[in-house]
This record gives sequence, C-alpha cells and structure tokens, in this order.
Amino acid sequence: MNNRKDSKTHGIDKYHHFDDSNDGDISGQLKSVYANWADAYDDDNDNKLGTVSQPNTVAMLTRHCQDPQAQIMDVGCGTGLVGLHLQRAGFKNYDGTDISTEMMSHAKARGYRKLLELDPTQQLAADENSYDAVLCVGVFTHGHLGPEGFDELIRITKPGGLICFTVNEGVWDEAQFDEAIEAHVENAVWRILEQSKMDYMVNEGVEAWYIAAQKLG
Ligand SMILES: C[S@@+](CC[C@H](N)C(=O)[O-])C[C@H]1O[C@@H](n2cnc3c(N)ncnc32)[C@H](O)[C@@H]1O
Repeated sequence: MNNRKDSKTHGIDKYHHFDDSNDGDISGQLKSVYANWADAYDDDNDNKLGTVSQPNTVAMLTRHCQDPQAQIMDVGCGTGLVGLHLQRAGFKNYDGTDISTEMMSHAKARGYRKLLELDPTQQLAADENSYDAVLCVGVFTHGHLGPEGFDELIRITKPGGLICFTVNEGVWDEAQFDEAIEAHVENAVWRILEQSKMDYMVNEGVEAWYIAAQKLG
C-alpha cells in the first residue's frame, strides 16, 4: 500500500499556494505546510520541482572555502539536502537549524553535528562571530523570509567568514533584496564575492539569485 501523502492536498501544493497576505501567524502556517510536506519533500524536490539550489550553493561555497574543518551553519536546513552535498564535498563540521522539527527529523542521517529548532521571532541559537560559513538555501522565497533575515546570518558569521544564500527570483524585486544587499555593501558590513542568476527549480522554469558574501571585520 502506498502511504505517501497526496501532494495535491499536502506539502508541495500548499507550498505553491502559500498565502502570506491574510494572517499574522506566518510561521504557524509555514510549520503546518512543512509538517505535511516533510515525508515527500526530497522526492518532490528531485522529481517534481527539479530543485538544484543545494548542489549549486555548496559548489559556490567550495569556490571560496576549501577547509574541510570549517565551522558551517545551515539556516533553514529542512531535510538536510544541503548537508548531503556538504558531506559529499568533504566538510566535517556543520550544524543546522529550522522552524520545522518534522523536516529536521530527516536531516539526522546527513552528517549534521547539531540540529536546532528555530523560533523565527528569536535570535538564532548561536553566538555572534561563531561560524566560518553560514548557508541559507531556499528560505528567501515567497512567504518565508525577507531581507531582514540577513541580520542574523551576519551576526553569527565570523569576520572574514562567508554567507552563501539563494533568493527566489519571484521575490527579488518586490522585497527589494538588491537594495538590502547593496546597503550592507555601502555600510561595509560585507563584500559580495559572487552574485549570479541561475537555475533553481528547473522543472518549473524558476531561477534564483545565488550570492556569496564575505563579512567584513
Ligand atoms: C524550501 S525549504 C528549503 C530547505 C533546505 N534548505 C533545502 O534546500 O532543501 C525552506 C525551509 O525553510 C524553513 N523556514 C521557513 N521559514 C524560516 C525562517 N524564518 N527561518 C529559517 N527557516 C525557515 C522551512 O521550515 C523549510 O524547511
């Protein structure tokens, strides 16, 4: 018997039709979407959406960091697909954090040192200046997190460390990501090492901006 949840009424469909316009409890809605989607997420990621953001972002990281002992935080780690690619690239020390315990339950087997539940109204459970690299893949997207999320990524990154993230092209203009990124450049908070628009969800014809920034000390 196939116990897989019907994606028309669960996870991927709710993700596609996520509505952040009519209710203040966005994180509660997101938790519910991802609790429903967790078991089918990896299969949908690969076979329905054709998402390539995880290998692309880890490849971007490796262009700027080759130290297998680098301390890495994966923010919005979900089921740990980024961790899978970090492991394949030889990285040994990576932690993950997410608002969904159901998603993170799948990440346990993917080499994470610590997996921390995140309350998005609070600071990340990490000290400032504590990571050599902070990744955030698939989280700057419709109804999830806006450019205000940069502050926490920057806070926990060591001076000289890397911040690598994706931004869905569909929220780039509306949420003024370009302006927010540029403001941090002008304020000498970070410098941009790479910024390019590439494939994101190939089967849906959606691209994302991929950005690697270096925190200035
Ligand atoms: C599209 S999934 C991406 C998961 C994983 N990074 C990947 O690439 O497969 C988005 C993830 O972001 C998490 N999330 C949503 N809002 C968040 C927030 N404000 N901060 C951190 N994670 C969040 C969700 O629970 C979900 O696991």
